[in-house]
Amino acid sequence: MSEKKQQVSRRQFLNYTLTGVGGFMAAGMLAPMVRFAIDPVLQASSGGDMHAVVDVSEITTEPQRFDWTIEQVDAWYTSDVTHSAWVYKDDNDEIVALSPTCKHLGCAVNWAGDPDHPDQFFCPCHEGRYYKDGVNVPNTPPNAALDLFEFEVREGTLYLGNAIERGGDN
Ligand code: FES
Repeated sequence: MSEKKQQVSRRQFLNYTLTGVGGFMAAGMLAPMVRFAIDPVLQASSGGDMHAVVDVSEITTEPQRFDWTIEQVDAWYTSDVTHSAWVYKDDNDEIVALSPTCKHLGCAVNWAGDPDHPDQFFCPCHEGRYYKDGVNVPNTPPNAALDLFEFEVREGTLYLGNAIERGGDN
């Protein structure tokens, strides 16, 4: 019986050792760089999309503007962004939360901003108007209703989520 001996030469031993040590060191340097590059992807999103806005007891039948601030993470840059909504209770005591962003070119609308139409939302940029329910008034510049916020009420507090498009009416 012949026994096959595997001999490792000094040169091979050095090659294996240096390759192993070099690979280990390269991995040690690259791992933090890879982690840094994809870090925002690995971050868990912060606590859902609903944000506490106002105590329900403050909501009246007259639209009122409420603001809230969220922390926005854009890659490695974190900033505070303020959002707004026009909120009121309709004739059925249902909460309505409208986006203030005009559907014409994006200016901010105001409730009763036009003295000639005190029961409508008014956009000062091009005199766009919306009825109280956010539907655009025909023959004014906007061609779609104001977006409606998703909402829920928890323990007496109104939480708002995303603004949902309702599409054009005319
Ligand atoms: S941006 Fe509102 S009417 Fe033009």
